[in-house]
Amino acid sequence: MAKKLKVGILGATGAVGQRFVELLEGHPWFEIGALYASGRSAGKTYKEAVDWKVPVTRPTYLDGEVVRDMQPDEPLDLVFSALPRETAKTVEVDFARAGVPVISNASAYRMGQDIPLLIPEVNPEHTGLIDYQRQQRGWDGYIVTNPNCSVIGLVLALKPLDDAFSISQVNVVTMQAKSGAGYPGPPPEVIDDNVLPFIGGEEDKLEEEPAKLLGTLGPRGIKAADLVVSAQCNRVNVLDGHLEAVNLKFRQPASVEEVTEALNSFRSVPQEAGLPFAPDQPVTVREEDDRPQPKLDRDTGKGMTATVGRIRPDSLFDIKFMVLSHNTIRGAAGAAILNAELLKHQGYL
Ligand SMILES: NC(=O)c1ccc[n+]([C@@H]2O[C@H](COP(=O)([O-])OP(=O)(O)OC[C@H]3O[C@@H](n4cnc5c(N)ncnc54)[C@H](OP(=O)(O)O)[C@@H]3O)[C@@H](O)[C@H]2O)c1
Repeated sequence: MAKKLKVGILGATGAVGQRFVELLEGHPWFEIGALYASGRSAGKTYKEAVDWKVPVTRPTYLDGEVVRDMQPDEPLDLVFSALPRETAKTVEVDFARAGVPVISNASAYRMGQDIPLLIPEVNPEHTGLIDYQRQQRGWDGYIVTNPNCSVIGLVLALKPLDDAFSISQVNVVTMQAKSGAGYPGPPPEVIDDNVLPFIGGEEDKLEEEPAKLLGTLGPRGIKAADLVVSAQCNRVNVLDGHLEAVNLKFRQPASVEEVTEALNSFRSVPQEAGLPFAPDQPVTVREEDDRPQPKLDRDTGKGMTATVGRIRPDSLFDIKFMVLSHNTIRGAAGAAILNAELLKHQGYL
């Protein structure tokens, strides 16, 4: 068996960091070699430092591992970053400069001209920016990012429809789970019996990131796709799983049947290459009137499949539907692991 790549987790004690610890146990290509968190946790064992919140039993394989502070002094093949944006700005550069590839969840560098913003089924060729990035910045390592958690579910559904019918306008209203706010998240007295109609910075990400993801790779960056997105974001009292109400305008005519077929038949490089975290279907369509639901559908494809439902004609746009995806798996840790698998498949690791 080939030797596994040694990975570090930056922000290993948080909502996304805990998912990395869960999902990487027994991974066929990667094994965790170092856990990093803030000064509050450094020096403690992982068991002492973590307040485990993921709704599965805490894995014990890292219980004795001592949490480190953010120095790039371990020999690692890559790090996954689950750091808050401001910390990511400096720490991710420290690791990339030290020669370590950084696969990041944070928003700090997503829109950088030389930074791949990646969903392996949507734009696997955008990893071509890595050589340009290294040239520009003089780093031996590099930074590759995954999009915002709501953007991933949305754009998985947009990609096959854009290819088939050319999307010109998107309206999206999100209902986002509590775990999307990190730990400890909104307190019960705020979120119980309530909907919070504002998530700082989120609408900007939903309006900016899709055009880069659906754009075309050039030698010095991505030419953004020609589509406009309008977004409104809400935090709802759900544990995991972001649900989004989507309205689309196309340049070419599309029936409900054609949209359903395009979504259900969508396959891409991760499926063709048989990457370990690739779901059989990136998107699946449910026909029932009352699906998708976070509680029932977020774990479809081990949390890596986006579920679409209620596809119907729209009186203002052309088509409307609901899409659901698991925010800490397909929207974060699982997304980054699939990005790393793609990078290994393409020879970047
Ligand atoms: N939650 C989601 O659904 C989701 C989805 C996609 C992307 N993201 C992005 O992923 C990143 C992590 O989100 P999260 O929800 O996991 O956040 P979180 O629960 O607040 O966890 C943050 C992690 O970073 C560490 N940290 C905080 N401040 C630090 C500092 N000054 N120096 C070093 N380490 C520090 C924390 O360590 P301590 O425990 O020691 O404080 C913890 O391990 C964010 O950039 C977020 O936007 C989140």
